[in-house]
Parts: sequence; C-alpha cells; structure tokens
Amino acid sequence: MKEQLEKLREATIELISGLSDEKALNDARTRILGRKGQLTGFLRGLKDLDPEERARMGQLANQIKIDLEQSFDRMETAIRERMEEQRLAAEFVDVTLPGRRSPIGRSHILHRVTDELIDVFAGLGFQLAEGPEVELDYYNFEALNIPRDHPARDMQDTFYFSDNVVLRTHTSPVQIRTMEKQQPPVRVICPGKVYRRDADITHSPMFMQIEGLWVDRGISFADLKGVLTAFVQEYFGKDVGLRFRPSFFPFTEPSAEVDIRCVICGGEGCRTCSQTGWLEILGSGMVDPVLYGFVNYDPSVYTGFAFGMGIERVAMLKYRIPDIRAFYENDVRFLNQF
Ligand code: PHE
Repeated sequence: MKEQLEKLREATIELISGLSDEKALNDARTRILGRKGQLTGFLRGLKDLDPEERARMGQLANQIKIDLEQSFDRMETAIRERMEEQRLAAEFVDVTLPGRRSPIGRSHILHRVTDELIDVFAGLGFQLAEGPEVELDYYNFEALNIPRDHPARDMQDTFYFSDNVVLRTHTSPVQIRTMEKQQPPVRVICPGKVYRRDADITHSPMFMQIEGLWVDRGISFADLKGVLTAFVQEYFGKDVGLRFRPSFFPFTEPSAEVDIRCVICGGEGCRTCSQTGWLEILGSGMVDPVLYGFVNYDPSVYTGFAFGMGIERVAMLKYRIPDIRAFYENDVRFLNQF
C-alpha cells in the first residue's frame, strides 16, 4: 500500500508539471483529491487495515494529500501568473508609436465650382434660390411656355415619374417658382442637379446647372450683356473673348447663346472647340412675356433676362478636364488634384 501511495504521489507530481491550463489542472485535482478521487479512495480503504498499519498509512496518506494540494496550488498560481503576463503582453500599447491620421475630406470639384459661380453672381447682387429635383411637369415645361405635345419638348429627353411628375431637365423651373412667390425685383441664382436621358463623353444622365434670373422695371438686353460679360471676365479672365450668338429657347425672346474663345487653343482651332475657336458656355435671353402670365407679373411694367449654364462644362473649361465622366467616378486620385 505504501508503494502504491508513493507511486500515486510521483505520478501526480509529474502530471501536474506537464499541465499548462487551469481547466486541465482543476480536472486533475478532482480526479485525485476530489470526493471520488484516487487518494480519497485510499483513505477510505484504511478502515480495513489493522490499527498499527492504519495509523502509519493514514499519516503517510495525509502527508501526501498535503503535498499534492500544495503542488496543485503552486501550479495554479504559476498558470495564473503566466496567463496574466500573456494578457498584459497582448494588451500592450506602444504610446511612442505615431498616431493614425484620418484622411481629411474636401469638397467635390463640382461643388467648388458651384460655390465659385455663386460668389461671382453674389458680387453682382444675385441671391441664392433653390427648387426640387423631382418636379411637376407644370414648372419644368408648361409655365416655361413648353406646352404638352409641343415639338419643343423633344429638345429635352425627360425621365418621367408619371404624366405630371418628372426629374427636372433644367434649373429653369426655379425661375417660375421664385416669381410665383414674390413680386419684382427678383435677382436670383439657382444651382442644382438636373436629369436627362443622355450619356456619352460630354453628356451625363445627371448633371448640374446654374440658372440666373433678373426681373425688374427697365431691365434690357444691355443688362443681360453687361452681367454675362462681367461674369465671363471675372471667372475666365479679363482677356477671354466672348460673343453673343442668336439662339432659341421657348421661354426667352430674343435668345442668345454665349461662347467664349477656346481656352485650350486660344482661338486657333483644336479638337475641344471642333476647330471653331469658340466654346459655347451658356444659354440666355429676355424672359418671354408669356411667362409673366403664369406668375401674375404685369408685362407692361416688368422686363427681365434669364440664363442657364452647365456647371460640369464650366468646370471642364476652367480646370481643363477632358471627360465629363471623371466628375462622377469618385477616383480620389482625380478628385485630389483640385
Ligand atoms: N434651360 C436652358 C437649358 O437647359 C438654358 C437657359 C436658361 C436658356 C435660361 C435661356 C434662359 O438649356
């Protein structure tokens, strides 16, 4: 029996030294020292021995029990310490490392150009006005003198929600909405997104326009020329040549488109200007008096002019961007250049 006890002690001590996690250690402790454990089994068996042997073996078994308990405890402490060390090592933060920088955002080039344009017109006394992108047919077409079934509707390839609701095809409906709300004088500039069923290198189904409207007593075509010339010189530079070219829009009469001297070739003729030396930048004209009927302005008292231009087009010319799609591809290598 003595030998068996000594063996158990040795085997257990060896077992303990090979364990490395707390759960295995606890399991081993139960297996040996627990209520149904091996050593406990020995102690129970003592009652069958004669008194003298029982005393000796009892003493030995108790001593072994004490030794093993100490071994288990020591190992438990060691394992806990090691785990704590590992935890600390894993959580280590090197406070001397450089911090992580969050990239700084910037406004999109189209918003930059929009703001620049608003600034120029604000300097000429224009106030900001806005309107919805999902628009009633009435504001987008009818009140702009483009009746239903009129061939002029073909000028704009429209996205329809229903018979009466469209994605606005231009910012001109904001003219009507503004005049509806107030009597003259009105002098507003209206930037925003517009939509047409159209896509190639110079057309995108969604693009941006900026609209201008000035109505008051005595506004003439000379004011139109003065304001647009001032704008072109301020934005594209004093020396950029410009010309007014007769045109047609259903909501202006007379109408004119404004061209500037090609910023790429300076007027010699190149691919960008299709060898003409000129680049069209905006449409404009005197507000057709028919519109005043829709907004209760007295056409015998008030006159005015309006203009509209594509913001992408202006941005492409100002910053020499050859492809309209670059604005929408969200390639930060492109966007970071501005
Ligand atoms: N709305 C016209 C277009 O989208 C531009 C324009 C605006 C022309 C105002 C004249 C006056 O083409």
